Amino acid sequence: MKSRILYGVLLMVLVFGLVGCGKKSAGPACAPNCEYKDMVVGFLQTGSEGGWRAANSASFRETADQLGLTLKFYDSQNDLARQVAGFHQFNQDPDVNVIILAALETTGWEEVLKEAQAAGKVVVLEDRRIDASEDMYATYIGSDFAEEGRKSANEMCKLLEGMAGKNVWELVGNVGSSAAKDRGQGFRETMGACGIEVTKSQTANWSITEGKEVTEAWLKETQDVQGIFAQNDEMALGAIEALKEAGLTPGVDVKILSVDATAGAFKAMLAGELNVTVECNPLLAPQVYEAALKALNGETLPKWIPSQEGVFSFDMPNLQEIADGRKY
Ligand code: AHR
Repeated sequence: MKSRILYGVLLMVLVFGLVGCGKKSAGPACAPNCEYKDMVVGFLQTGSEGGWRAANSASFRETADQLGLTLKFYDSQNDLARQVAGFHQFNQDPDVNVIILAALETTGWEEVLKEAQAAGKVVVLEDRRIDASEDMYATYIGSDFAEEGRKSANEMCKLLEGMAGKNVWELVGNVGSSAAKDRGQGFRETMGACGIEVTKSQTANWSITEGKEVTEAWLKETQDVQGIFAQNDEMALGAIEALKEAGLTPGVDVKILSVDATAGAFKAMLAGELNVTVECNPLLAPQVYEAALKALNGETLPKWIPSQEGVFSFDMPNLQEIADGRKY
């Protein structure tokens, strides 16, 4: 009899133990009173592709110091396999309790997200969205990229008003990223209102060099272009170089619009070579860390916390003043 009872108890321990293995582990020991000093963040950055990214990384580093949290910064060097490997690494790191992801691509995250959930990590998406079920992460903090695309099309409509041809070339970011997909989609949703046609579209991977190369190649085929929509400032700066070398006046012969609003864009607008930049705010760290702390303490967050953004044009009377007051 005794041995039967003992056998039953052992079986129950085994069954509950196995069921427990598949479940999310309990929160950190400090919850529900965790403070920033208890937070160890594994931050998976995309890489260092330009001014926007540099400002984004600086925001995470500086704010971590100010708040007194521990930041483990991982540079994915714009390589998806490397970023996924970094995610695995943070999942296995017993000190890391928060993982922040700036995803290079929208897909490929299912396995590491499950692993993170089983390990009890808080996952926060910053800057870029991913294709994953919303219960696999605490929140997404970042821009409305589709709205940036819509704003870009509206501004391009104003720049091309009254022109007979409205041929626009589009320099696309990293094609697998949510920023590139949604900006392109938003632009297309709105451009029809004033008869814009996207006659050429190709990736230039967020880079000045590639922005220049792609534009150079297009200019050899035709110069029938009235506007360039560059999905970030760097690619616009490359296009400006290519236009100048082809004997065209950027900002006049061809209207140029880009996204980000970095210092480089303001410089180009003050020189009259870039017409408009649509802001994408990279200074996200204070919002992201605050949300992560709440999630660490067991709070349920909205699935999207959007950032506030504006539009700047080369003919604003106080452009220099605005440029001087900006952080990036
Ligand atoms: O996700 C934001 C985009 O990523 C920026 O617009 C681009 O410059 C960057 O690298």
